Amino acid sequence: MHPLITELGLDGDPKLLHERRGTTFFKVGDTALKITDGLMAGREGEVLAALDAGHYIAHGTHGQGTWLTMRWIDGTSLWDALEPAHRGDDAPATRRSILTAAAEAAEALADLHAAGWTHGDLQPDHIVFESGAVRIIDLACAQGPVPVPFYVHHGGLAHTTAPEIAALILNTTDHITTTPEADVWSLSASLFWSWTRTPPTDYRDPQASRPDLLADTAAARRHDLATVRPWQFPAFETALHASLAPDPEQRPTARSLAGFLRAALTTGAFE
Ligand SMILES: Nc1ncnc2c1ncn2[C@@H]1O[C@H](COP(=O)(O)OP(=O)(O)O)[C@@H](O)[C@H]1O
Ligand SMILES: [Mg+2]
Repeated sequence: MHPLITELGLDGDPKLLHERRGTTFFKVGDTALKITDGLMAGREGEVLAALDAGHYIAHGTHGQGTWLTMRWIDGTSLWDALEPAHRGDDAPATRRSILTAAAEAAEALADLHAAGWTHGDLQPDHIVFESGAVRIIDLACAQGPVPVPFYVHHGGLAHTTAPEIAALILNTTDHITTTPEADVWSLSASLFWSWTRTPPTDYRDPQASRPDLLADTAAARRHDLATVRPWQFPAFETALHASLAPDPEQRPTARSLAGFLRAALTTGAFE
C-alpha cells in the first residue's frame, strides 16, 4: 500500500488501477487518488480547484512528487459509450444516443472554454458520462486564466492531436499554447475514433513512431469517413467533417458544434 493512502486517511480497500509514465492511480473506497513523480497531479488539482470542479477533493505535495484526490466518477467513457454504435446497430435509438453523447460532450467542452480554459489532451477516455453530468477529466495539461505550476507543454496523445498542434510539436521544442480550436479537433477526433474504432488520420504506417504519425496529421491526411464508418450517418458525419477541418479558423466552436447536434436531435431529421 502507498504511504500516502494512510497519511491522507483514505478509507477503503485500495485498488491500484494503473502505474505508467510516472503516474500511479488508486481507487480507495469512493475516492480516486492520482500520484505523480513531478508536479502534474498537483497542477491538475490547482486547475480543478480554479474551475470549482464538482469531483475535486484536494491536492498536495509528497516528497518530489504531487498527489490529487477526486470523488470517484462512476460513469462510462466516450469510448465505451460509442462501442455499441460501432458494432453496427444502425437504429434510430443508436443514432439518437450518438448525437446526444456528442452534444453533451461538446457542451461540456464549451463550458470549459467559456471559463477561459483549454484542455490540451482530449481523448476518448477523458470524456466520462455520469448520470446527469458529463465530466471532462485529466486536466493536467489544461491552460487557462489562473496561474498554475508551469511545465513545457509539448502535446498530448498523437491520435487526437490537431494538425496545427502536430506541426508545432514537430517544428519546435518550445512550450505549446493550446487553443479552443485544437480542442474541438481533438473532441471530434475522439468521436470519430470511438465510432469507427479508427483514428481520423490516414497514417501511411499506423505502426510508425510518434513523429511520423504526427507528420501525417500535420499534412491533413484524413480518412474518408465512407471507408471506415460502420454505417452511414449524414448528420453526425457533417458535424465531424466540419470540426476536423485542417484550418482551425474553419472549425465550429464547441458551442456551435453542440448547437448543430442539438438541432439535429430536435428536428429528428437523422432518423
Ligand atoms: N475521478 C475519477 N473517477 C473515476 N475514474 C477516474 C477518475 N479520474 C480518472 N479516472 C480513470 O482513470 C483513468 C486515468 O485517469 P487520467 O486522469 O487520464 O490519468 P493519466 O494522467 O494517467 O492519463 C481515466 O481514463 C479514468 O478511467
Ligand atoms: Mg489520461
